[in-house]
Amino acid sequence: MSPSLSSFQRFEARFYSATASWLYDRVVVSFGFRLLAGRLHSKVLAQGTGAVQAAGHRPILDLPVGTAFFTLRWGRGGFVVGADIAAGMVEEAKSRADGRGAEWLSTAQADVQHLPFRDRSFGAIMCTNGLQVMPPLPLALAELGRVLDHAGSLFVCMITFPVGALLPLSLSKHLPTIFKSHRQVLAELRSEGWKVTARDRSRLALLFEACRT
Ligand SMILES: C[S@@+](CC[C@H](N)C(=O)[O-])C[C@H]1O[C@@H](n2cnc3c(N)ncnc32)[C@H](O)[C@@H]1O
Repeated sequence: MSPSLSSFQRFEARFYSATASWLYDRVVVSFGFRLLAGRLHSKVLAQGTGAVQAAGHRPILDLPVGTAFFTLRWGRGGFVVGADIAAGMVEEAKSRADGRGAEWLSTAQADVQHLPFRDRSFGAIMCTNGLQVMPPLPLALAELGRVLDHAGSLFVCMITFPVGALLPLSLSKHLPTIFKSHRQVLAELRSEGWKVTARDRSRLALLFEACRT
């Protein structure tokens, strides 16, 4: 595990690993994400198909891959690398890919802050229900931007609990991403040099596509 992780992130990785094979899909994907994302839950699959088309013949990074619940439904037709910091998630994703003969999906354990991929390796990046639990946006976006082709697109669906909208900017800018409003998230993207080309919202979820300016 990366030495730069906070103790909370280590706990988080262990939690996801421990729940990957028996609890995660039922509680997080099928119940929590569906409840909090409303109609965007099913739009993730269309977004994944868009990522496959946008990538063309180039590989797609799916980070975090989780159990590959969504990936195995949108990724056929592409060449996808599913990465996640939680070893248990990576094992679960690999076992499901092997079980379904999904040779187009390979897996890797990786922290978004130090991705083991060369610059511009990917034609598209899918980031489903993950950016909010990762390290601060500028750090995550810098590394995602490094491994994304200059002409590539980033596809995100994320949930936030926007308590930051109730606080002055001087305080809210220090909150973890999960507590930022959609407006704050989009403003941070712009200030980190990304242009949002499409977006949608439902309940607590924000879905968007972005490319570098
Ligand atoms: C809510 S799950 C989403 C997984 C999957 N995309 C899905 O929709 O089912 C969040 C995932 O983010 C991963 N994660 C958290 N911090 C990370 C980091 N620093 N680098 C890579 N993955 C991370 C967790 O291990 C967990 O699998």
